[in-house]
Order: sequence, then structure tokens, then C-alpha cells
Amino acid sequence: MPTLLRKRAGRIAWEFDLSADKFTLMIFLRPNQAQREFSALLRSGSDDAKDGNKIAHETLLKLRPRQDSAGSLHVKLRPMHECPLYSDPELYDSLFPDARDSASVQDESRRERVLASEWFYLEEARKSGGRVLEMACGSGRLTIPIAQSGIEIVGADLSKSMLDTARAKADRAGVDIQFLEADMRSFDLPGKFAAILIPGNSLLHLFTLEDLMQCLRSVRRHLAPNGRLIFDISKWDLVRLARDAEERHLVLTVKDITIEEAASYDAADQIRHIVWYLSKPGAVDFRVIDYTLRVIFPQELLLLLDTAGFRVDARYGEFTREPFTSSSPRQVCICSVSAP
Ligand SMILES: C[S@@+](CC[C@H](N)C(=O)[O-])C[C@H]1O[C@@H](n2cnc3c(N)ncnc32)[C@H](O)[C@@H]1O
Repeated sequence: MPTLLRKRAGRIAWEFDLSADKFTLMIFLRPNQAQREFSALLRSGSDDAKDGNKIAHETLLKLRPRQDSAGSLHVKLRPMHECPLYSDPELYDSLFPDARDSASVQDESRRERVLASEWFYLEEARKSGGRVLEMACGSGRLTIPIAQSGIEIVGADLSKSMLDTARAKADRAGVDIQFLEADMRSFDLPGKFAAILIPGNSLLHLFTLEDLMQCLRSVRRHLAPNGRLIFDISKWDLVRLARDAEERHLVLTVKDITIEEAASYDAADQIRHIVWYLSKPGAVDFRVIDYTLRVIFPQELLLLLDTAGFRVDARYGEFTREPFTSSSPRQVCICSVSAP
């Protein structure tokens, strides 16, 4: 079943097909108005955008639509792992440093979270007493320190550039890690694992219930007896979801780079469309990055895990292991298989 996300900006409506492997964006216009009106919208960058959705408009500007014979415009959207954040691992690493480089993060609570997340995953990897898989390992922020502590770990990701960077960093660190290209929506890797880690909101890159279930089932198939699934995702603050899509909010300052976020939220599909504006002294908005995240609410998460055959052994509100409560910023979960 296709999962369609419908959006409108001014007179232009379009659909994202979230179930497609490569997301397609189709813009529907009456044939005789299509190209002319769309081009005018792109050139003006103002009037139509004002009464529509500015974020959507900015996204459209970056796409290169192709018109078919019926006058509809089609645009290919990147699959999530090719999002600009992940095709530029150097930028990613400077914005999301590992614990060793965490001093560059200006905000104290964020800096503490960088340190705490590494300690948490390191501790859980040690407790597993066996081989560990980090799914969606990115550029190895956690994979490398876990390997350095003497644990056998495999890193898997769908982004070639993130994997290349992870391999180069592991070489420099002198650790031997197997990095594999795999899609967490459905994977088949050799051997079983005592623990499978999915850190850092990676699960939120799966937009549909079907993808989430497939991922959890693949994880289950790869767990050794008594194996555990360990992951963390945001617990969304409703005020943040309800923000005006045109308002920018400061989310992060790393070294001299500030990130401002403007985001719209589709409450039907539980998808956040996010635009990050990166600035540094003398270079306002030097990079604009758009990406999308699924919102998974706490009770929905329990149901998903249960349906996929997992029991939640612990759910914390932070990496420092405080209980999960209404005001917790994260959902940090440790799960085991509930049924064979
Ligand atoms: C936020 S990063 C997390 C990286 C790492 N786990 C960390 O905590 O630093 C999310 C990662 O998910 C990867 N990703 C996105 N979709 C994926 C998919 N379907 N299968 C595997 N990896 C995926 C991206 O390429 C990216 O490296």
C-alpha cells in the first residue's frame, strides 16, 4: 500500500510516496498552467510562498522538476541515507562530534549528552558479552570507541560516504572493524549478535509502519539467544511540533557554526519536515539542509515493539538512565525477544 503524504503551497499540491524506494515527489497542476506558473513561482520566491508553506517552497526550489506530457511535474527526492547530512560526513562529524571532540559543542546539556551516549552504549556493548552490531552506524562515532574497548563490533549503514569515512577513521584509530552496506529496513548479515544497537535517532529515518516493522523483524532474526536490541529516539515535545513552520529556532552551536531549524509537522503521518540553516561569522545561511524525521510517540513505540516480538526490559528518559517520564527528552530502550 503506498503511503502518500499530501502537501499544498499556494496553488501547487504535491505528494510524497513514502513507501517507494526512491521517494518521488509529484506536483499536480492543471496542464495549461503547469510550467509557466511553476517557473513564475520559482522566480518570485515570495507571493505564493507566503500564502503557502515557506519550507515547502524552499524544498521545491532545490528540486529540478521534470514535466511529463500531461503537464504534471515530477521530481525525484533523495532517499534518506543520501540526505545532505550523510553525503557530507566531514560536515556531519563537525556538527555531531564524538565524545573526544565534544568540547566543540557550546550547549552544556548537549555536550553532556554526547559523553553520556558514548558511555551508555559502551557499557551496554560490554554487558552483552558477545559480538555487537551497530545498525545505521554512520561515520563510526560510537562503533570506533566500542571496538577500541576490545569488543567485536560490526557497523552497517546505507550511506556509502558515511561508511567510507568510518573505515578511514577506524584505520587511523588502529581498530579492525567490519563495515557493511545494509538497509536497516530489511537486512541479511552473516552470523548472529549478542546486541544490536541503533543509536542516535536512526530509527526515525523509517517513515512508515511497514518499514519500522520490517526493521524490527530483521533485528530479531539477527539476535543470538538472550540477545538485546538497544536504541534511542527523541521523545517529541508537543510545543516543538506545533511551531510555526516559518519560524526559525536555534538548535545547536558547534564551534563557530550555529544551526537554526524551521520545521513543519504532518500530524496525520507523524512526519517532521525540517530545514536546517547553518551560519558562521560572515556567512549567514552558508548551508541549508532539508531532511525528514518520523515522530514515534511513547505508547506507539511500545505497541510496535510488542508486535515485532520484543519485550522492553528498560526504558530510560536519558542516557544517564533516569526513569522515562512525561518530561523526558529521549526514549532510550533496552529490549529482548519476548517470543521465539
Ligand atoms: C543520525 S545518523 C546516526 C549515526 C550513528 N549511529 C551515530 O549515532 O552517530 C543516522 C544514520 O542512519 C543512516 N541511515 C538512514 N537510513 C538508513 C537505512 N534505511 N538503512 C541503514 N542506514 C540508514 C544514515 O546514513 C546515517 O548514517
